[in-house]
Amino acid sequence: MENVATLIFDGKEYTLPVVVGTEGEKAIDISTLRSQTGLITLDSGYANTGSCTSEITFMDGEKGILRYRGIPIEQLAEQSSFVEVVYLLIDGFLPNKEQLNRFSRLLNDHSLVHEDMHGFFQHFPRDSHPMGILSAMVTALKGFYPYLEGIEEEINITVARLISKVRTMAAMAYKISRGHRIVYPRHDLRYSANFLNMMFDSPVRPYVIDPDIVRALDVFWILHADHEQNCSTSTVRMVGSGRVNLYAAISAGIAALWGSLHGGANQAVIEMLVDIHKDGGDVHKVVARAKDKNDTFRLMGFGHRVYKTYDPRAIIMKQMCYTLLNKLKRTDPLLDIAMKLEEIALNDEYFIKKNLYPNVDFYSGIVLRAIGFPTNMFPVLFAIGRLPGWIAQWKESIEDTSWKLARPRQIYIGPEQIDYIPIDQRKSSH
Ligand code: CMC
Repeated sequence: MENVATLIFDGKEYTLPVVVGTEGEKAIDISTLRSQTGLITLDSGYANTGSCTSEITFMDGEKGILRYRGIPIEQLAEQSSFVEVVYLLIDGFLPNKEQLNRFSRLLNDHSLVHEDMHGFFQHFPRDSHPMGILSAMVTALKGFYPYLEGIEEEINITVARLISKVRTMAAMAYKISRGHRIVYPRHDLRYSANFLNMMFDSPVRPYVIDPDIVRALDVFWILHADHEQNCSTSTVRMVGSGRVNLYAAISAGIAALWGSLHGGANQAVIEMLVDIHKDGGDVHKVVARAKDKNDTFRLMGFGHRVYKTYDPRAIIMKQMCYTLLNKLKRTDPLLDIAMKLEEIALNDEYFIKKNLYPNVDFYSGIVLRAIGFPTNMFPVLFAIGRLPGWIAQWKESIEDTSWKLARPRQIYIGPEQIDYIPIDQRKSSH
């Protein structure tokens, strides 16, 4: 029988439907497995579990393919703008000129952050990581900008608010962490240029906008805009499935992205390269540590859950490193170390056997450093880029009539029932 999988358990045969995606991907639909057989599936890290069907992003990890709404990432990075990609991901199609202008105006209209929120920012300890600040501030937005849930127009405004304000808040977090005066958004500047200005303009040194730097940031954001059901996106869908408001779901996504195996990897790569540089530049030592089973150290910026070949985003980002450093007439010893590391790892049996290739984060830190961003802002920049993907996936999930409260099962392996012992009768603790 076609498009059906057969499971034999306890001598009985069960058939389960197979769902086939646009690109021929196949999944066994196990939604009736438990009611039919009493069984559940066990899949650590959900590596073999499809949590939804989606029309947004297609990835093929074996072939190194990434497409948003069907359009290859290479074409978007070459020809599109970040705001256009935001529209594409959230609305499902490329906007015409009028639609894009209207959307840009909406972003401008919602770019300011309520003055009362400035007080919140001022009271975070100076050393707070900007990801923690951003996550907290995004949840707080709900108090300042309540919306009527489920109403289309309100959702559109909330989306524009988030896309625009998260960028303003990210720059504010940076300025406040340095004890500097906040720079307000400007209506005459486009999305990326506006952000660069809010980050780097100061009364003593006005920021001069360089179109090549603006383009580099735009491309960085395009490359990060969505990546189907990754850790933070799944978090947004999962938290959203409890029917929380969009701000809370996005705040959870930011927190999930913070980790060094996910969005924090770009910061971790630069920290690793700086350490190698300080230690005399011996990349062999680091490769040996990464291969050592008894050492928890991993080569940051290498490997990916889905890509088992070169990450297509890394190819574009690597080229961007050279273009930008060349244009800025700069050299970066960290890029030389990264290139050596890449060459050794790509020819090493350990990395070849495990299909470990550089991912986007291996190069993106060098581009962000060249622009002038401090290392702890790297994950925040990733979060701004990933925001449209989170919103698109959240929107798709709430519009899906079959969407349920996310609630995985488990196999319990703890003790069987034991009796409670009053405290004065307990002999020893573990
Ligand atoms: N350095 C050394 N060994 C590695 C690495 C690495 N970077 N990545 C994976 N391995 C080894 C791992 O030890 C394991 O070995 P073994 O089979 O002997 O136990 C094997 O490769 C498979 O690894 P895994 O952890 O089971 O694979 P995964 O799919 O769960 O991990 C990953 C994916 C991204 C968490 C992992 O490759 C990693 O930790 N990379 C470094 C962090 C990083 O660069 N993260 C950014 C990912 S791209 C940004 C994004 O999309 O979020």
